[in-house]
Amino acid sequence: MANTVLYQTASKVIERDGNFVVKKFNGSYPKSDVLNEALNQARVEATDLNIPKVHSVDVEDGEWAIRMDYVEGKTIQQLMDENPDKAEQYLNMFVDLQVEMQSKKVPLLPRLKDKMQAKISQTAFDATTRYELHMRLDSIPKHLKLCHGDFTPSNVIISTDGRAFIIDWSHATQGNASLDAARTYLTFCLEGKQELADKYLSLFCKKTDTAKQYVQRLMPIVAATQSLKAKPEEKELLSRWVNVVEYE
Ligand SMILES: Nc1ncnc2c1ncn2[C@@H]1O[C@H](COP(=O)(O)OP(=O)(O)OP(=O)(O)O)[C@@H](O)[C@H]1O
Ligand SMILES: [Mg+2]
Repeated sequence: MANTVLYQTASKVIERDGNFVVKKFNGSYPKSDVLNEALNQARVEATDLNIPKVHSVDVEDGEWAIRMDYVEGKTIQQLMDENPDKAEQYLNMFVDLQVEMQSKKVPLLPRLKDKMQAKISQTAFDATTRYELHMRLDSIPKHLKLCHGDFTPSNVIISTDGRAFIIDWSHATQGNASLDAARTYLTFCLEGKQELADKYLSLFCKKTDTAKQYVQRLMPIVAATQSLKAKPEEKELLSRWVNVVEYE
C-alpha cells in the first residue's frame, strides 16, 4: 500500500508507512541536522516520556529520512482547532506536559545557554544590544532541565488511548526551563494568538511558581535568537522585543 502523506513543507515530507512514520528531508537540509535530530530523539527515549522511538536513519529516494513509530491520534493544535470550547483544558494539558518534560534530565544533550550565546553573536543587532543580551543570558540560573526548543501544540500528539507524545526533537537541549517557556510564549505571539500566549504564560508561571517578570526578562534573548530564522513579517515584532533590553 502506498504511504500516506501526513504533512509536507518545502523542505520535508512526513509520511505514514504502516506502524511507522518516515520524516524525509530534501537535499537542502544539512545531513548533520538530520542526524542531530535523530540523535536528540534517541537520547530523549532514555527518559520515561512518551515519544516516538527512532527505528532507523537512512537515505530513501535520495533523501535523508528518519523512521520512527507512528502515533495514532491528533495534535493538541488539531484538538484546539476542532474544539475551541475546550481550549483551556488542552492548554492545561499542554503546560502540565511541558512541566513534566522539564523535570527530566538528558545529560548528553547540548547546553541551551551555549547554543543561545552563539546565536546572539550571529544576529544583526548592534554590539551594545548583543552585549546586553549576552550578559543577561549569562546571569540567569544554570539549570540542566530537558528543554524542547519548539514546544508548541503542533508538536504534541494525544494518542487514541489518551497518552501525550512529544515529537519534533530537532532543537532539544538541556538548560533553564524558563527560556523554553519564553520561546513557547513568543511562538504564540508570532502566530497572532496574544490571548492564548498570555493564558499560557500565566499557567506556566503558576504551575512552576515562577515570577512572570522573570520569564519576561528572557523575552529579548529568545526574540533575538528567533530573529535568525524569522520570516520577514515577524522581524519587526521580534526587533521590538529585543530592543526592550536597552531601556533597562
Ligand atoms: N511520529 C508521528 N506520528 C504521527 N504523526 C506525526 C509523527 N511525527 C510527525 N507527525 C505529524 O507531522 C506533523 C509535523 O511533524 P514534525 O513536527 O516532526 O515536523 P516539523 O519539523 O515541525 O516540520 P516544520 O517545522 O518544517 O513545519 C506533526 O504535527 C504531526 O501531525
Ligand atoms: Mg513540528
